[in-house]
Amino acid sequence: MRFLVLGQGGREHAIVRALKFSPSVTEIHASPGSDGISQEAICHKIDLNDEKALAEFVKRYQFDCVVVGPEAYLVAGVSDRLRALGVPTVGPSQAAAQLEGSKIFAKEFMVQAGIPTAAFEVVDNVADTLRAAQKFTPPYVLKADGLAAGKGVFLCPTLPELKAAAEALFEKKALGQACARALLEQFQPGYEISYLILTNGEGHEVLPLSQDHKRLRDGDEGPNTGGMGVVGPLHIDEALRRQIEEKIVQPSVRHLGGSGLLYRGVLYIGLMITPSGPTVIEYNARFGDPEAQVILPLLDGDWGYVFAKLARGEMTEMKWKNLQMACVVMAAAGYPENPEKGVAIEGDLGAQTPSSYFLHAGTAKTGGQWVCDGGRVLNAVGMGTSRADALKAAYGQARQATWRGMRMRSDIGAKI
Ligand code: AMP
Ligand code: GLY
Repeated sequence: MRFLVLGQGGREHAIVRALKFSPSVTEIHASPGSDGISQEAICHKIDLNDEKALAEFVKRYQFDCVVVGPEAYLVAGVSDRLRALGVPTVGPSQAAAQLEGSKIFAKEFMVQAGIPTAAFEVVDNVADTLRAAQKFTPPYVLKADGLAAGKGVFLCPTLPELKAAAEALFEKKALGQACARALLEQFQPGYEISYLILTNGEGHEVLPLSQDHKRLRDGDEGPNTGGMGVVGPLHIDEALRRQIEEKIVQPSVRHLGGSGLLYRGVLYIGLMITPSGPTVIEYNARFGDPEAQVILPLLDGDWGYVFAKLARGEMTEMKWKNLQMACVVMAAAGYPENPEKGVAIEGDLGAQTPSSYFLHAGTAKTGGQWVCDGGRVLNAVGMGTSRADALKAAYGQARQATWRGMRMRSDIGAKI
C-alpha cells in the first residue's frame, strides 16, 4: 500500500517509522515532512488549503491511506477534504475535531455525555473571570478556548495572577481571536495519564497507556511545554481501568456516534486521576507528541493494515509487545518561549543501537550540517524489557548529540 503522512514533527517521524516496519506498506510519502523524515519517506510541499493542488496530488499518487498528524490540519477540515476526494483517511472530521479545537465544545460534549470533568464557567472578559472565580478554590485554571500550541492553559495560584492571565487573553489578545473566550475551571489534584484510543465512533481499541512530562524542568518545574518526555506502557490496577472505561471511554465513544460526529482516528483522552476518581482534563483529536513515539513501536502487528482499515471505518484487534519504551525530548535553547533556530547540532544523528534511535522533531540540514529548526529538536527513543532499561537506552542515545543551549529533562520516568 502507498501511504501519505501529513505533518513534520517527531510524532510524524514516528508514524513514518512505524509504516516502514509494516509489511503491508510499500511506499511512504510525507507532506511537508522534514529533512529528517526525507531519509525515510518521499517528501512533498503541498498546500493543503489549495483544493485544486490537493486534488491533483492525490490523483497522481493514488494513496491507499493518509494519516493526518497535527491538530491544526484536522481542525481546518483536511480529513474531510481528503475523504471528499475519495482518499481513505485516518483523522476525525472537522466537526469532531472541535473536541480539541474548542475547549468549550469539549466541555459541552462531556456534560451531555455525563463524563466526569472539572466544574467550569465560560468567560470572555476580565470582570466576569474575577466574578466567576468566587465559585472556585485556588489555584485557578484559565483555559483559552481555541488551539494555542500548548500555551493556552494558565495555572494561577492567586487572584492577581488570574487577573493578569485574563488581561493577557481578553485585552492584549495574546493568543489571538480563536481564544476570545475561555474556560475557568476547578483545579484537579492528582496525577495525569494519557489514555489514547483508536476509534471509528462505534468501537474502540485502547493503546498502551503512557505518561507525558509537560513541564520544562526536572521535578515538574518551569513552564508548560508540548511535552518533554514520555514513558510507557503504564500499568494501572484493574478497578481503575474499569472505571475509566465505563465512566469515560465508553460514554465518549457512544456520544460521538450518537451526535453523528464522523470519527476515524485517535482520540487522546487526557485524564487526571484524582482522589475521588478519574476526570477528563482534555480531549485531543490525534496522537500525542511525544506519546506516539513510545506507543507506535509497541504494536505486535502491522500499522499499515490497522490504519488502512480504520480509514475505512473498520477496527482491528490489536496485540502489544511486552516491552517498555521511553522517549526523551531534546529541545532548543529558549524553548518553549523563544526557541533558537539555526544552531549547529554536534554528534551523529544516525547513531543507533538495537534498542535506541533518534527521531527528528525540529531539525533541518543546511550545507551538509544538521541544525536546530524548531522548539523540540530531537527525540531520543529507547526500549527495554524494564522501564529502567528503556530509560537507560534513551538517555544513552541522547548523549550521541548536543548543541549550544540544549534543554533536556534528566528525570523522565523517575517519579512513577
Ligand atoms: P491541557 O492543555 O488542557 O492539557 O492543559 C495543560 C496542562 O495543565 C495539563 O496537562 C495539566 O497538567 C494542567 N491542567 C489543565 N487543567 C487542569 C485542571 N483542571 N486541574 C489541574 N491541572 C490542570
Ligand atoms: N504531549 C501532549 C500532546 O500531544 O498534546
